[in-house]
Amino acid sequence: MNRTERHPPAKINLTLHIKGARPDGFHELDTIFIRTSLRDRLGVARASHRDLRLECPGSDLPTGPDNLVVRAAELFRKRTGIRDGFDVRLEKHIPAGGGLGGGSADAAATLDALNELCGHPLPPDDLLALASQLGSDIPFFLGPPAARGTGRGEILTPVEAAGLPDRALLVNPGFGVPTPWAYAAYRALPPESKRGEINATFPWGEMRNDLEPAVFGKYLLLPRVKTWLRDRPETTAAMMSGSGATMFALLAPAADAATLQLDLRSTFGHACWSHEVRLG
Ligand code: C5P
Repeated sequence: MNRTERHPPAKINLTLHIKGARPDGFHELDTIFIRTSLRDRLGVARASHRDLRLECPGSDLPTGPDNLVVRAAELFRKRTGIRDGFDVRLEKHIPAGGGLGGGSADAAATLDALNELCGHPLPPDDLLALASQLGSDIPFFLGPPAARGTGRGEILTPVEAAGLPDRALLVNPGFGVPTPWAYAAYRALPPESKRGEINATFPWGEMRNDLEPAVFGKYLLLPRVKTWLRDRPETTAAMMSGSGATMFALLAPAADAATLQLDLRSTFGHACWSHEVRLG
């Protein structure tokens, strides 16, 4: 086999509790990840050259060694000793730096695609270990569609789909929030401000994101978008995903997302991107 294709999905965090700071500089989490139907497209082909070449048509993402896809491929080659060259073509649809795990999903898909093209030199546990080395939420994209993440977010337990919401509207105001900054801002808050508000309570737990107070303190548009979404009749709850800036609203059964999207644009302007997704 010389080429393969993947459709890496965006995720949202239905809940994100921060349990405390760890000695390694990370934070101990209890979060529920769920995949969405919004996907990038990643094509990987074996090349006649010996390099790792990435193109992202229509996107201004850097395609050099900082790109997580390139880092994933280099780590795979280092771990396996395989020196073959590959051409990777990434079509971005997931907003970058938006708390939707787009870069992580692309990296996980790269590891999986290279492993397939090279005849599965790495067993699943080794692939998961590489994923976890690259980033805390990358292992999730190699597993089931919904999972509870503990530790840094890389220790995963599958969550049954029954009882989980099945439809949401993703809303990105047109900018991203750097994850390291969000956690640093969280650390600087006094203890009484280190909890996100409880937006809803489900059989699987509280829908709450503890990064919201820190991120909302700087990005003042976000709490306005959240309140606006929450107060609409089409939605049952709204919250920030991961470290933001993407917000999501759970959609009421039979709600018409198109009307909501039109009103969203006329209220917050055309830079405000939105997309209706299925969950799980
Ligand atoms: O693991 P990842 O590269 O996604 O993490 C990016 C940054 O987010 C880390 O460098 C750290 O500052 C912060 N982070 C954290 N605790 C986690 C996950 C991420 O503090 N559980």
